[in-house]
Amino acid sequence: MRTFRIHTFGCQMNEHDSEKIAYLLMEKGLVPAEDGIPDLFIVNSCAVRDKAVQKLYTLLGRTKKWAAKGTVVGVVGCVAQVEREKLLRHFPHLSFVIGPGSYPSLDELLDRILEGEKVVAARWEGKWWETGGALRQRPAVAYINIMEGCDKFCTYCIVPFTRGRERYRPLPWIIDEVRRAVDQGYMEIQLLGQNVDSWRWEKYRFWHLLDRVRKIPGLKWVRFITSHPKDFVPEMVSIMAEGEPITPYVHLPLQAGSNRILNLMRRGYSKEEFLEKVEMIREKVKLSSIGTDIIVGFPYEEEEDFRQTLEVVKRVEFDNMYSFHYSPRPLSYAGRNFPDNVPKEVKRRRLMELQKLQAEIQLENNRRFVGKVIEVLATGRSAKDPEAYMGRDITYRVVNFSCKRNPIGEVLQIEIKEAGPHSLKGEVKNED
Ligand code: 5AD
Ligand code: SF4
Repeated sequence: MRTFRIHTFGCQMNEHDSEKIAYLLMEKGLVPAEDGIPDLFIVNSCAVRDKAVQKLYTLLGRTKKWAAKGTVVGVVGCVAQVEREKLLRHFPHLSFVIGPGSYPSLDELLDRILEGEKVVAARWEGKWWETGGALRQRPAVAYINIMEGCDKFCTYCIVPFTRGRERYRPLPWIIDEVRRAVDQGYMEIQLLGQNVDSWRWEKYRFWHLLDRVRKIPGLKWVRFITSHPKDFVPEMVSIMAEGEPITPYVHLPLQAGSNRILNLMRRGYSKEEFLEKVEMIREKVKLSSIGTDIIVGFPYEEEEDFRQTLEVVKRVEFDNMYSFHYSPRPLSYAGRNFPDNVPKEVKRRRLMELQKLQAEIQLENNRRFVGKVIEVLATGRSAKDPEAYMGRDITYRVVNFSCKRNPIGEVLQIEIKEAGPHSLKGEVKNED
Protein backbone atom coordinates (compact mmCIF):
# COMPACT_ATOMS: atom_id res chain seq x y z
CA MET A 1 0.00 0.00 0.00
CA ARG A 2 1.42 3.40 -0.94
CA THR A 3 1.64 6.00 1.82
CA PHE A 4 1.39 9.79 1.81
CA ARG A 5 2.04 12.69 4.13
CA ILE A 6 1.06 16.34 3.77
CA HIS A 7 2.92 19.12 5.56
CA THR A 8 0.83 22.27 5.80
CA PHE A 9 1.98 25.85 6.25
CA GLY A 10 -0.36 28.78 6.77
CA CYS A 11 -4.01 29.49 7.43
CA GLN A 12 -7.17 27.42 7.95
CA MET A 13 -7.87 27.59 4.22
CA ASN A 14 -4.62 25.73 3.58
CA GLU A 15 -5.31 23.31 6.42
CA HIS A 16 -8.66 22.51 4.90
CA ASP A 17 -7.24 22.20 1.37
CA SER A 18 -4.85 19.59 2.77
CA GLU A 19 -7.82 17.72 4.25
CA LYS A 20 -9.45 17.68 0.83
CA ILE A 21 -6.24 16.54 -0.89
CA ALA A 22 -5.88 13.76 1.69
CA TYR A 23 -9.44 12.65 0.90
CA LEU A 24 -8.64 12.43 -2.83
CA LEU A 25 -5.51 10.39 -2.09
CA MET A 26 -7.42 7.98 0.16
CA GLU A 27 -9.94 7.49 -2.64
CA LYS A 28 -7.04 6.52 -4.87
CA GLY A 29 -6.00 3.84 -2.40
CA LEU A 30 -3.15 5.62 -0.63
CA VAL A 31 -2.98 5.65 3.17
CA PRO A 32 -1.63 8.29 5.57
CA ALA A 33 1.97 7.48 6.58
CA GLU A 34 2.28 6.80 10.30
CA ASP A 35 5.94 7.69 10.52
CA GLY A 36 9.09 7.16 8.50
CA ILE A 37 9.50 8.23 4.90
CA PRO A 38 6.27 8.24 2.87
CA ASP A 39 5.95 7.28 -0.80
CA LEU A 40 4.33 10.62 -1.56
CA PHE A 41 5.18 13.84 0.28
CA ILE A 42 3.19 17.00 -0.39
CA VAL A 43 4.02 20.39 1.03
CA ASN A 44 1.11 22.83 1.12
CA SER A 45 2.82 26.22 1.02
CA CYS A 46 1.99 29.71 2.35
CA ALA A 47 3.19 32.94 0.69
CA VAL A 48 1.67 35.56 2.97
CA ARG A 49 4.97 36.51 4.63
CA ASP A 50 8.59 35.85 3.77
CA LYS A 51 9.13 33.78 6.93
CA ALA A 52 6.71 31.08 5.75
CA VAL A 53 8.45 30.96 2.37
CA GLN A 54 11.85 30.58 4.05
CA LYS A 55 10.52 27.69 6.14
CA LEU A 56 9.23 26.04 2.98
CA TYR A 57 12.66 26.31 1.35
CA THR A 58 14.34 24.76 4.39
CA LEU A 59 11.88 21.87 4.44
CA LEU A 60 12.21 21.25 0.70
CA GLY A 61 16.00 21.18 1.06
CA ARG A 62 15.59 18.33 3.52
CA THR A 63 13.38 16.34 1.11
CA LYS A 64 16.18 15.96 -1.48
CA LYS A 65 17.43 12.84 0.28
CA TRP A 66 13.93 11.33 0.31
CA ALA A 67 13.47 12.01 -3.40
CA ALA A 68 16.79 10.28 -4.11
CA LYS A 69 15.39 7.19 -2.36
CA GLY A 70 12.20 7.21 -4.41
CA THR A 71 9.72 9.44 -2.56
CA VAL A 72 7.61 11.56 -4.89
CA VAL A 73 7.88 15.13 -3.53
CA GLY A 74 5.71 18.04 -4.64
CA VAL A 75 4.48 21.49 -3.64
CA VAL A 76 0.91 22.79 -3.70
CA GLY A 77 -0.60 25.98 -2.25
CA CYS A 78 0.14 29.67 -2.54
CA VAL A 79 3.89 29.62 -3.30
CA ALA A 80 3.27 26.97 -5.97
CA GLN A 81 0.87 29.37 -7.66
CA VAL A 82 3.22 32.34 -7.90
CA GLU A 83 6.79 30.97 -7.79
CA ARG A 84 6.73 27.74 -9.76
CA GLU A 85 9.81 28.48 -11.93
CA LYS A 86 11.83 29.49 -8.89
CA LEU A 87 10.78 26.36 -6.99
CA LEU A 88 11.70 24.08 -9.90
CA ARG A 89 15.02 25.87 -10.38
CA HIS A 90 15.99 25.56 -6.70
CA PHE A 91 14.59 22.07 -6.22
CA PRO A 92 14.90 19.98 -9.38
CA HIS A 93 13.88 16.93 -7.35
CA LEU A 94 10.27 18.17 -7.19
CA SER A 95 7.88 15.94 -9.12
CA PHE A 96 5.03 18.44 -9.14
CA VAL A 97 4.14 22.05 -8.44
CA ILE A 98 0.42 22.79 -8.40
CA GLY A 99 -1.17 26.11 -7.44
CA PRO A 100 -4.73 26.64 -6.14
CA GLY A 101 -5.74 27.84 -9.64
CA SER A 102 -5.50 24.23 -10.84
CA TYR A 103 -7.17 22.57 -7.87
CA PRO A 104 -10.41 21.97 -9.81
CA SER A 105 -8.38 19.44 -11.88
CA LEU A 106 -6.44 18.06 -8.93
CA ASP A 107 -8.13 14.68 -8.99
CA GLU A 108 -6.91 14.01 -12.49
CA LEU A 109 -3.51 15.66 -11.90
CA LEU A 110 -2.90 13.35 -8.93
CA ASP A 111 -3.57 10.33 -11.19
CA ARG A 112 -0.89 11.56 -13.57
CA ILE A 113 1.54 12.17 -10.70
CA LEU A 114 0.94 8.68 -9.34
CA GLU A 115 1.69 7.28 -12.78
CA GLY A 116 5.09 8.96 -12.61
CA GLU A 117 4.50 12.08 -14.69
CA LYS A 118 6.06 15.42 -13.76
CA VAL A 119 3.22 17.92 -13.39
CA VAL A 120 3.42 21.72 -13.27
CA ALA A 121 0.03 23.43 -13.15
CA ALA A 122 -1.25 26.80 -12.00
CA ARG A 123 -3.73 27.88 -14.66
CA TRP A 124 -6.82 29.68 -13.32
CA GLU A 125 -9.66 27.34 -14.06
CA GLY A 126 -12.27 29.58 -12.50
CA LYS A 127 -14.45 26.64 -11.49
CA TRP A 128 -15.27 25.82 -7.91
CA TRP A 129 -13.09 22.99 -6.51
CA GLU A 130 -15.50 20.33 -5.27
CA THR A 131 -13.89 17.12 -4.01
CA GLY A 132 -16.83 15.39 -2.41
CA GLY A 133 -15.10 15.13 0.93
CA ALA A 134 -12.32 15.95 3.34
CA LEU A 135 -10.20 13.77 5.60
CA ARG A 136 -10.85 16.01 8.59
CA GLN A 137 -7.88 16.42 10.92
CA ARG A 138 -9.68 18.14 13.77
CA PRO A 139 -11.84 15.96 15.94
CA ALA A 140 -14.53 18.45 16.96
CA VAL A 141 -14.41 21.27 14.45
CA ALA A 142 -15.27 20.91 10.77
CA TYR A 143 -13.94 23.46 8.31
CA ILE A 144 -16.28 24.26 5.45
CA ASN A 145 -15.30 26.48 2.52
CA ILE A 146 -17.81 29.01 1.37
CA MET A 147 -15.67 31.12 -0.92
CA GLU A 148 -12.26 31.27 -2.52
CA GLY A 149 -9.99 34.13 -3.46
CA CYS A 150 -10.07 37.85 -2.81
CA ASP A 151 -10.90 40.92 -4.90
CA LYS A 152 -9.75 43.52 -2.39
CA PHE A 153 -6.09 43.94 -3.41
CA CYS A 154 -4.87 45.47 -0.15
CA THR A 155 -1.48 46.81 -1.17
CA TYR A 156 0.60 44.56 1.15
CA CYS A 157 -1.17 41.34 0.28
CA ILE A 158 -0.25 38.52 -2.08
CA VAL A 159 -3.51 36.59 -1.62
CA PRO A 160 -5.39 37.94 -4.67
CA PHE A 161 -2.48 36.62 -6.76
CA THR A 162 -2.16 33.24 -5.07
CA ARG A 163 -5.87 32.52 -4.61
CA GLY A 164 -7.30 34.46 -7.52
CA ARG A 165 -10.54 36.37 -7.88
CA GLU A 166 -13.48 35.69 -5.59
CA ARG A 167 -15.55 32.60 -6.33
CA TYR A 168 -18.53 31.71 -4.16
CA ARG A 169 -19.68 28.22 -3.39
CA PRO A 170 -23.37 27.64 -4.14
CA LEU A 171 -25.62 27.67 -1.09
CA PRO A 172 -27.09 24.14 -1.51
CA TRP A 173 -23.60 22.61 -1.52
CA ILE A 174 -22.65 24.45 1.67
CA ILE A 175 -25.83 23.45 3.48
CA ASP A 176 -25.35 19.88 2.36
CA GLU A 177 -21.80 19.76 3.71
CA VAL A 178 -22.82 21.32 7.03
CA ARG A 179 -25.56 18.69 7.39
CA ARG A 180 -23.11 15.89 6.69
CA ALA A 181 -20.62 17.27 9.21
CA VAL A 182 -23.32 17.50 11.88
CA ASP A 183 -24.44 13.93 11.08
CA GLN A 184 -20.86 12.81 11.55
CA GLY A 185 -20.90 14.32 15.02
CA TYR A 186 -19.06 17.61 14.56
CA MET A 187 -20.25 20.08 17.20
CA GLU A 188 -18.73 23.15 15.61
CA ILE A 189 -18.35 24.24 12.04
CA GLN A 190 -16.18 27.04 10.77
CA LEU A 191 -17.22 28.68 7.52
CA LEU A 192 -14.04 29.68 5.74
CA GLY A 193 -13.22 32.37 3.23
CA GLN A 194 -10.79 35.26 2.77
CA ASN A 195 -13.74 37.67 3.06
CA VAL A 196 -16.73 35.66 4.20
CA ASP A 197 -18.98 38.73 4.23
CA SER A 198 -18.70 39.16 0.48
CA TRP A 199 -20.14 35.68 -0.14
CA ARG A 200 -23.21 35.74 -2.38
CA TRP A 201 -25.24 33.29 -4.41
CA GLU A 202 -28.29 34.14 -6.48
CA LYS A 203 -30.28 36.53 -4.26
CA TYR A 204 -28.62 35.35 -1.05
CA ARG A 205 -25.99 37.25 0.90
CA PHE A 206 -23.80 35.99 3.72
CA TRP A 207 -26.27 36.76 6.52
CA HIS A 208 -28.92 34.76 4.64
CA LEU A 209 -26.51 31.85 4.51
CA LEU A 210 -25.88 32.16 8.26
CA ASP A 211 -29.61 32.23 8.85
CA ARG A 212 -29.99 28.97 6.91
CA VAL A 213 -27.03 27.32 8.62
CA ARG A 214 -28.15 28.21 12.15
CA LYS A 215 -31.43 26.37 11.60
CA ILE A 216 -29.73 23.06 10.89
CA PRO A 217 -30.56 20.83 13.85
CA GLY A 218 -27.78 19.43 15.98
CA LEU A 219 -25.28 22.19 15.43
CA LYS A 220 -23.70 23.57 18.60
CA TRP A 221 -21.62 26.44 17.25
CA VAL A 222 -20.94 28.08 13.94
CA ARG A 223 -18.04 30.46 13.40
CA PHE A 224 -16.96 32.30 10.28
CA ILE A 225 -13.47 33.47 9.41
CA THR A 226 -12.41 36.09 8.16
CA SER A 227 -14.56 39.22 8.03
CA HIS A 228 -13.56 42.42 6.25
CA PRO A 229 -14.42 45.59 8.19
CA LYS A 230 -15.66 47.26 5.00
CA ASP A 231 -18.15 44.49 4.25
CA PHE A 232 -19.26 43.90 7.82
CA VAL A 233 -22.72 45.44 7.57
CA PRO A 234 -25.54 45.94 10.14
CA GLU A 235 -27.30 42.82 8.79
CA MET A 236 -24.33 40.82 10.05
CA VAL A 237 -24.73 42.27 13.53
CA SER A 238 -28.43 41.44 13.52
CA ILE A 239 -27.88 37.83 12.59
CA MET A 240 -25.12 37.52 15.21
CA ALA A 241 -27.48 38.98 17.78
CA GLU A 242 -29.72 35.92 17.24
CA GLY A 243 -27.18 34.01 19.31
CA GLU A 244 -26.40 30.30 19.36
CA PRO A 245 -25.52 28.39 17.35
CA ILE A 246 -23.98 31.52 15.82
CA THR A 247 -21.11 32.47 18.10
CA PRO A 248 -20.45 36.07 19.10
CA TYR A 249 -16.88 35.98 17.78
CA VAL A 250 -15.81 38.14 14.83
CA HIS A 251 -12.36 38.18 13.34
CA LEU A 252 -12.11 41.75 12.12
CA PRO A 253 -8.61 42.69 10.94
CA LEU A 254 -7.78 46.32 11.70
CA GLN A 255 -4.25 46.14 10.15
CA ALA A 256 -3.41 49.72 11.23
CA GLY A 257 -4.91 52.47 13.37
CA SER A 258 -3.76 55.46 11.33
CA ASN A 259 -5.90 56.68 8.44
CA ARG A 260 -2.80 57.62 6.46
CA ILE A 261 -1.51 54.05 6.65
CA LEU A 262 -4.96 52.53 6.08
CA ASN A 263 -5.11 54.59 2.89
CA LEU A 264 -1.68 53.43 1.77
CA MET A 265 -2.81 49.87 2.50
CA ARG A 266 -5.99 50.54 0.46
CA ARG A 267 -8.16 48.97 3.12
CA GLY A 268 -11.28 50.91 2.20
CA TYR A 269 -12.21 52.15 5.70
CA SER A 270 -11.06 54.75 8.18
CA LYS A 271 -10.20 54.27 11.84
CA GLU A 272 -13.48 56.02 12.70
CA GLU A 273 -15.52 53.66 10.53
CA PHE A 274 -13.78 50.67 12.08
CA LEU A 275 -14.60 51.94 15.57
CA GLU A 276 -18.23 52.45 14.59
CA LYS A 277 -18.50 48.82 13.51
CA VAL A 278 -16.94 47.69 16.77
CA GLU A 279 -19.42 49.78 18.72
CA MET A 280 -22.31 48.34 16.75
CA ILE A 281 -21.14 44.79 17.56
CA ARG A 282 -20.55 45.55 21.25
CA GLU A 283 -23.94 47.16 21.59
CA LYS A 284 -26.05 44.47 19.96
CA VAL A 285 -24.25 41.14 20.35
CA LYS A 286 -24.28 39.54 23.77
CA LEU A 287 -20.82 38.33 24.97
CA SER A 288 -19.33 39.78 21.78
CA SER A 289 -15.72 38.92 21.18
CA ILE A 290 -13.52 40.58 18.57
CA GLY A 291 -10.22 39.35 17.21
CA THR A 292 -7.93 41.22 14.86
CA ASP A 293 -4.77 41.24 12.75
CA ILE A 294 -2.27 44.08 12.79
CA ILE A 295 0.75 44.82 10.64
CA VAL A 296 3.46 47.10 12.04
CA GLY A 297 6.18 48.80 10.01
CA PHE A 298 4.23 49.21 6.80
CA PRO A 299 6.13 51.56 4.40
CA TYR A 300 6.15 55.18 5.60
CA GLU A 301 4.74 54.25 9.04
CA GLU A 302 5.93 57.01 11.39
CA GLU A 303 6.01 56.82 15.17
CA GLU A 304 2.82 58.92 15.22
CA ASP A 305 1.00 56.42 12.98
CA PHE A 306 2.06 53.59 15.24
CA ARG A 307 0.86 55.53 18.33
CA GLN A 308 -2.55 55.74 16.68
CA THR A 309 -2.58 51.97 16.22
CA LEU A 310 -1.85 51.61 19.94
CA GLU A 311 -4.65 54.06 20.72
CA VAL A 312 -7.20 52.04 18.73
CA VAL A 313 -5.99 48.82 20.33
CA LYS A 314 -6.44 50.39 23.79
CA ARG A 315 -9.88 51.64 22.90
CA VAL A 316 -11.23 48.47 21.38
CA GLU A 317 -9.63 46.01 23.82
CA PHE A 318 -9.58 43.18 21.28
CA ASP A 319 -10.15 39.70 22.66
CA ASN A 320 -7.32 38.32 20.58
CA MET A 321 -4.79 39.58 18.09
CA TYR A 322 -2.36 38.26 15.52
CA SER A 323 0.37 40.80 14.86
CA PHE A 324 3.15 40.79 12.30
CA HIS A 325 5.86 42.99 10.94
CA TYR A 326 5.41 44.06 7.38
CA SER A 327 7.01 41.71 4.91
CA PRO A 328 7.22 43.01 1.33
CA ARG A 329 5.55 40.55 -1.03
CA PRO A 330 6.33 40.11 -4.69
CA LEU A 331 3.41 41.01 -7.02
CA SER A 332 1.63 43.09 -4.36
CA TYR A 333 1.30 46.83 -5.06
CA ALA A 334 3.36 47.86 -2.02
CA GLY A 335 5.98 45.22 -2.77
CA ARG A 336 6.42 46.66 -6.25
CA ASN A 337 6.01 50.37 -5.55
CA PHE A 338 6.86 51.22 -1.94
CA PRO A 339 10.26 51.04 -0.27
CA ASP A 340 10.45 48.75 2.78
CA ASN A 341 11.62 51.83 4.67
CA VAL A 342 10.89 51.12 8.32
CA PRO A 343 14.12 49.70 9.78
CA LYS A 344 14.02 46.15 11.10
CA GLU A 345 14.83 47.22 14.69
CA VAL A 346 11.99 49.75 14.60
CA LYS A 347 9.56 47.11 13.34
CA ARG A 348 10.72 44.74 16.05
CA ARG A 349 10.35 47.33 18.80
CA ARG A 350 6.89 48.37 17.62
CA LEU A 351 5.76 44.77 17.43
CA MET A 352 7.01 44.10 20.97
CA GLU A 353 5.31 47.20 22.31
CA LEU A 354 2.04 46.29 20.62
CA GLN A 355 2.17 42.71 21.86
CA LYS A 356 2.96 43.81 25.40
CA LEU A 357 0.00 46.16 25.44
CA GLN A 358 -2.29 43.51 23.99
CA ALA A 359 -1.12 40.90 26.53
CA GLU A 360 -2.03 43.31 29.35
CA ILE A 361 -5.46 43.92 27.85
CA GLN A 362 -6.13 40.22 27.36
CA LEU A 363 -4.97 39.33 30.86
CA GLU A 364 -7.25 41.96 32.33
CA ASN A 365 -10.21 40.74 30.24
CA ASN A 366 -9.53 37.07 30.86
CA ARG A 367 -9.43 37.65 34.63
CA ARG A 368 -13.15 38.42 34.50
CA PHE A 369 -13.76 34.75 33.73
CA VAL A 370 -12.14 33.46 36.92
CA GLY A 371 -14.74 31.84 39.17
CA LYS A 372 -17.25 31.46 36.35
CA VAL A 373 -18.50 28.21 34.90
CA ILE A 374 -18.43 28.26 31.12
CA GLU A 375 -19.23 25.88 28.29
CA VAL A 376 -16.17 24.60 26.47
CA LEU A 377 -15.95 22.41 23.38
CA ALA A 378 -12.98 20.11 23.95
CA THR A 379 -10.92 20.14 20.76
CA GLY A 380 -7.67 18.36 21.63
CA ARG A 381 -4.83 17.91 24.07
CA SER A 382 -3.36 20.98 25.74
CA ALA A 383 -0.34 22.41 23.95
CA LYS A 384 1.49 23.00 27.25
CA ASP A 385 0.59 19.93 29.27
CA PRO A 386 0.10 16.62 27.43
CA GLU A 387 -1.89 15.29 30.42
CA ALA A 388 -4.44 18.08 30.08
CA TYR A 389 -6.96 18.97 27.39
CA MET A 390 -7.83 22.16 25.59
CA GLY A 391 -10.92 23.62 24.06
CA ARG A 392 -12.57 26.89 23.26
CA ASP A 393 -15.58 28.64 24.67
CA ILE A 394 -18.26 30.52 22.78
CA THR A 395 -16.05 33.65 22.64
CA TYR A 396 -13.19 31.62 21.05
CA ARG A 397 -11.02 31.81 24.17
CA VAL A 398 -8.60 28.93 24.69
CA VAL A 399 -9.37 26.97 27.85
CA ASN A 400 -7.01 24.33 29.27
CA PHE A 401 -8.37 21.82 31.76
CA SER A 402 -7.72 18.41 33.22
CA CYS A 403 -10.20 15.57 32.82
CA LYS A 404 -10.19 11.92 33.93
CA ARG A 405 -11.54 10.61 30.64
CA ASN A 406 -10.91 11.70 27.06
CA PRO A 407 -13.53 14.44 26.46
CA ILE A 408 -12.49 15.49 22.92
CA GLY A 409 -15.54 16.40 20.87
CA GLU A 410 -17.76 17.01 23.91
CA VAL A 411 -19.14 20.22 25.35
CA LEU A 412 -18.24 20.47 29.04
CA GLN A 413 -18.98 22.80 31.93
CA ILE A 414 -15.62 24.15 33.06
CA GLU A 415 -15.05 26.15 36.21
CA ILE A 416 -12.34 28.73 35.49
CA LYS A 417 -9.63 28.84 38.16
CA GLU A 418 -6.88 30.89 36.54
CA ALA A 419 -6.43 33.37 33.72
CA GLY A 420 -3.39 34.15 31.61
CA PRO A 421 -3.10 36.59 28.71
CA HIS A 422 -3.58 33.89 26.09
CA SER A 423 -5.68 31.26 27.79
CA LEU A 424 -7.87 30.29 30.73
CA LYS A 425 -7.36 27.32 33.00
CA GLY A 426 -10.08 25.39 34.74
CA GLU A 427 -11.60 22.17 35.99
CA VAL A 428 -14.53 20.10 34.80
CA LYS A 429 -17.52 20.93 36.98
CA ASN A 430 -19.08 17.95 38.80
CA GLU A 431 -16.70 15.37 37.36
CA ASP A 432 -17.33 11.96 38.97
N1 5AD B 1 3.31 41.43 5.74
C1 5AD B 1 2.90 41.19 7.01
N2 5AD B 1 1.71 40.69 7.33
C2 5AD B 1 0.85 40.42 6.31
N3 5AD B 1 -0.40 39.94 6.31
C3 5AD B 1 -0.81 39.84 5.03
N4 5AD B 1 0.15 40.25 4.20
C4 5AD B 1 1.20 40.63 4.97
C5 5AD B 1 2.47 41.16 4.70
N5 5AD B 1 2.88 41.43 3.45
C6 5AD B 1 -1.16 39.64 7.53
C7 5AD B 1 -2.43 40.49 7.61
C8 5AD B 1 -3.51 39.49 7.35
C9 5AD B 1 -2.92 38.23 7.94
C10 5AD B 1 -3.53 36.98 7.49
O1 5AD B 1 -1.58 38.30 7.53
O2 5AD B 1 -2.52 41.02 8.91
O3 5AD B 1 -4.73 39.84 7.94
FE1 SF4 C 1 -5.29 40.09 1.51
FE2 SF4 C 1 -6.78 42.30 1.89
FE3 SF4 C 1 -7.80 40.18 0.54
FE4 SF4 C 1 -7.40 40.00 3.18
S1 SF4 C 1 -8.81 41.43 2.18
S2 SF4 C 1 -6.81 38.45 1.62
S3 SF4 C 1 -5.55 41.22 3.47
S4 SF4 C 1 -6.06 41.46 -0.11
